[in-house]
Amino acid sequence: MSNKIQTLSGYIHEYAKSVQDPEHFWSRIADSFHWQKRWDSVVEWNFKGPDVKWFTNAKLNITENIFERHLYTLGDKPAIIWEPNNPDEDVRTITYKELYAQVCQFSNVLKAKGVSKGDRVIIYMPMVPEAAVAMLACARIGAVHSVVFAGFSATSLADRINDCKAKMVLTSDGNFRGSKKIAVKEVVDEAIERTESIEKVIVLRRTGQDVNMKSGRDIWWHEAVEGVSTENKAEIVDSEDMLFILYTSGSTGKPKGVVHTCGGYMVYTTYTFQNVFQYSQGDVYWCTADVGWITGHSYIVYGPLLAGATTLMFEGVPTYPDAGRFWAICDKHKVNQFYTAPTAIRALQAYGTEPIEPYKLDSLRVIGTVGEPINEEAWHWYHDHIGKGKCPIVDTWWQTETGGIMISPIAGVTPTKPSYATLPLPGIQLAILDNDGKELTGNSVEGNLCVKFPWPSMLRTTYGDHERCRQTYFSSFKGYYFTGDGVKRDEDGYYRILGRVDDVINVSGHRMGTAEVENAINEHPKVIESAVVGYPHDIKGQGIYAYVICDMEGRSEANLIEEIRQTVTKIIGPIAKPDKIQIVPGLPKTRSGKIMRRILRKIATGETANMGDTSTLLNPEVVEEIIEGAQ
Ligand code: WT7
Repeated sequence: MSNKIQTLSGYIHEYAKSVQDPEHFWSRIADSFHWQKRWDSVVEWNFKGPDVKWFTNAKLNITENIFERHLYTLGDKPAIIWEPNNPDEDVRTITYKELYAQVCQFSNVLKAKGVSKGDRVIIYMPMVPEAAVAMLACARIGAVHSVVFAGFSATSLADRINDCKAKMVLTSDGNFRGSKKIAVKEVVDEAIERTESIEKVIVLRRTGQDVNMKSGRDIWWHEAVEGVSTENKAEIVDSEDMLFILYTSGSTGKPKGVVHTCGGYMVYTTYTFQNVFQYSQGDVYWCTADVGWITGHSYIVYGPLLAGATTLMFEGVPTYPDAGRFWAICDKHKVNQFYTAPTAIRALQAYGTEPIEPYKLDSLRVIGTVGEPINEEAWHWYHDHIGKGKCPIVDTWWQTETGGIMISPIAGVTPTKPSYATLPLPGIQLAILDNDGKELTGNSVEGNLCVKFPWPSMLRTTYGDHERCRQTYFSSFKGYYFTGDGVKRDEDGYYRILGRVDDVINVSGHRMGTAEVENAINEHPKVIESAVVGYPHDIKGQGIYAYVICDMEGRSEANLIEEIRQTVTKIIGPIAKPDKIQIVPGLPKTRSGKIMRRILRKIATGETANMGDTSTLLNPEVVEEIIEGAQ
């Protein structure tokens, strides 16, 4: 792996080269892949459109770069190690050769069932190897996958199917999560009733629970693959053809479909995987995310498999059968690189060190975090008790839109600092802007985190609505991609992410739009108006606090609050359920009718001593009433 940075001076040198001559830098890295036709130019771009193209007119198939490129040397090496929810069930180890056969076979199934290049396929599945097979089979035939986290509600699923007009859903009968069994297929059935584009549903048998199979539409996975050839010639696509759509929340109501394309995404996820985690052949790498999120796409499936790594996939939850499960898995499979979310660390930290004691954790070399800021206390706990003081922590900052890790230590190379994502990776040209759009140069500055030059895995558009992409990411600061995060660059030039500066809250590393949660709450017939803000939460990072004006007639407050919680679960999913709901007589509004969230955030945080200027409020008296009723 010649692209691996091994020293701090090596990093500094590579970074400088990547800025001085990005085209040369990225073409050298892209040269280690298998292209059916080489590119005409490395990058063509403007952030006005935006219009970004990497490796223009190059032809490839990303799965050829996983399989055909590696089979000769890595064919018998494990590609996926699968650890089931129940530790007594058998582990599955799938070699590159075997995974290749399964992907080819399923590619043939998809084609036979009517999926062609460019068609959208929804994947709504548990964390089983077939989820990866499904993604890769779509990629192999040039179809576009859109994985929807299997915890989302039927409404959320239907919205996504409708937005991208998907032709097919790949799902399972049910899903094991800890001691629970979740009826996945039932959710799919309910969702499809509200859609018109779905022609076929392929159902994997996982839990064995009863499901309703609609004749002519639903097919069992095991029946669909029976007797189907395990050979398939990859569809050769353009570098800028769509690879996948992944829906994510923003500050406005409806989740948007972030679009990633083939060539650049392939190059960037591989490069960052190899460097950040310092993966060496023979290592076992484990990322605890779900394939329903971008982390699962880039750092369970694509990045590791493109790098020829062994990637561990875990079906279950960190606390089942007990709070030592993660550590049991690390020892059982001799995990070398472990990548998880701060929320999981904090949740496990709450159990103390006892659950860790039975385990050695001596195979670990690198430990990582992603998804939200990690507080210093959790950082030290992770460092001392899991990394045993000897594993570098890679605090990786990135987003669904960035496709790959942007700011992170390179394990063992970049000196770390608790709660700092440290330095940008090669190719990433950051800028900190003040609210007037002025770039703040030098160190010891704080402001809005932007990027001023394209990188290969950046989003290209939001599906079906390019204007929304421009508006959301490229209009706040002209000529820059705006991340939505606040950041500090300290006296050493190190970056510390301060959290979102827009109306997005980060709950356990999952992004929620306040407007999206409000819309769900407002579906309850007794709700008149609502306002949602984030507040600091010990385990989740941020919790959801909802202020709701209700028509209370004939209802008890407790019942109503519970009903509102259920409404949100039904409309979005359990991850969006408010932690606190306060029924209020009114909401603080400006004279122009805008809700003053600043005040609501302060109340939710308990900082009621100094409310700042409330003189512009239409109804200042309501503030006192809300404070009195606050929880
Ligand atoms: C938002 C992106 C990237 C995959 C998981 C989340 C926050 C992400 C960090 C980090 C502080 C972080 C940001 C970002 N975030 N990583 N290491 N330190 N904050 O992806 O759902 O697209 O959310 O997560 O606020 O904007 P996402």
